[in-house]
Amino acid sequence: MQRVYFDHSATTPVRPEVFEEMQKYLTDYFGNPTSLHYFGRVVRKAIEEAREKVARAIGAQPNEIVFTSGGTESDNMAIHGVAMINKNRGNHIITSAVEHHAVLNTVKSLSKQGFTITILPVDKHGMVDVDDLANAITDKTILVTIMHANNEMGTIQPIKELAALAKSKGITFHTDAVQTLGKIPVDVNELGVDLLTISGHKIYGPKGIGALYIRKGTRWRQSLFHGGAQEKLRRSGTENVPGIVAMGKACELAVQELDQEPAYLKGLRDKLIKEVMDRIPHTRVTGHPTMRLPNHASFTFEFIEGESMLLSLDMKGFAASSGSACTSGSLEPSHVLLSMGIPHELAHGSIRITLGRDNKPEDIDSFMEVMPPIVERLRAMSPLDQENEFAIESDCVSCKASDTCQRQV
Ligand SMILES: Cc1ncc(COP(=O)(O)O)c(C=O)c1O
Repeated sequence: MQRVYFDHSATTPVRPEVFEEMQKYLTDYFGNPTSLHYFGRVVRKAIEEAREKVARAIGAQPNEIVFTSGGTESDNMAIHGVAMINKNRGNHIITSAVEHHAVLNTVKSLSKQGFTITILPVDKHGMVDVDDLANAITDKTILVTIMHANNEMGTIQPIKELAALAKSKGITFHTDAVQTLGKIPVDVNELGVDLLTISGHKIYGPKGIGALYIRKGTRWRQSLFHGGAQEKLRRSGTENVPGIVAMGKACELAVQELDQEPAYLKGLRDKLIKEVMDRIPHTRVTGHPTMRLPNHASFTFEFIEGESMLLSLDMKGFAASSGSACTSGSLEPSHVLLSMGIPHELAHGSIRITLGRDNKPEDIDSFMEVMPPIVERLRAMSPLDQENEFAIESDCVSCKASDTCQRQV
């Protein structure tokens, strides 16, 4: 069976160019970068070259980049490091309801250590309001952490405005840019952020490597790892050299291709959204209509379970996801969809399709051959559909622009 991968926000395949660059650091160049001999010096040089590439990709200076094990560690390190050094100045942290669990669970753990957390709401498109941030700031606020774009519904936040507001009050600003690098421009100076998280496996690099940007002069203290003096005392532990080299190459390629790839993905994404909305009734697009990632389409299908759709799609060879990759497996609907005001029943019927550089228009065509019959079959079996038969007919008139139709085209 031919398989089509539509889950690039969960992870991406390693690009051949990236693999080629990293593999010799698994075999030939195996030295410990801390060693003073030739074997160590070769890999130390490779790490510093990779650091330059990562820095260049986001408009930073190389010494502002710390390599980590991925997005989760970078988020933890950013938030914890700012909280710990500033705790005598203030104990208030602001974040948003749609953050990844790497942020939400980190602030939750800090709330047990005397920090007060404000979680900003989002509107129906998943967008944070700058006025809500202004109203939440107090003289105890030390950190604002709001993601650049959301992994589940693709909405891009107004980071420049949010960061400018925080900075005008002298508050440190962190953003999780795991989903945006390579999809939209990510420039730390343009965005005005102090700390920024990125991850290798979302940009055609390997899993287990990421980076944290820390603007020079930011009040931040390494407080999670205790060990050696690697990464200029900012992250102890022998460096993941192949991963770091791969991260450098993946960042270089992602930025080189920014002027073509996102436009290509957006074309595919718009075709997919149009066809789903034209051909499958009782369906909504979730997320912002325009301020969204170019490769990202997410939907709710009334009267069916996202998991049943995923399994049926998988049996036909299509890999998609429901909600966040990290929370699927749980029966709870996604916290992101619920925070956008989407009712429980609808949130359960959500799927996310995230396109990548290897997807072709024909993949959308073959998806549209299987998806409408899957939805029809699952709805026919669904007790929810039977209960709502009357409502479908009278309220929505098969979604032909009735006032009550909430589809968001
Ligand atoms: C927005 C966001 N932040 C953080 C992470 C975690 O990154 P990693 O898998 O590299 O730990 C993810 C992964 O899904 C993500 O989408």
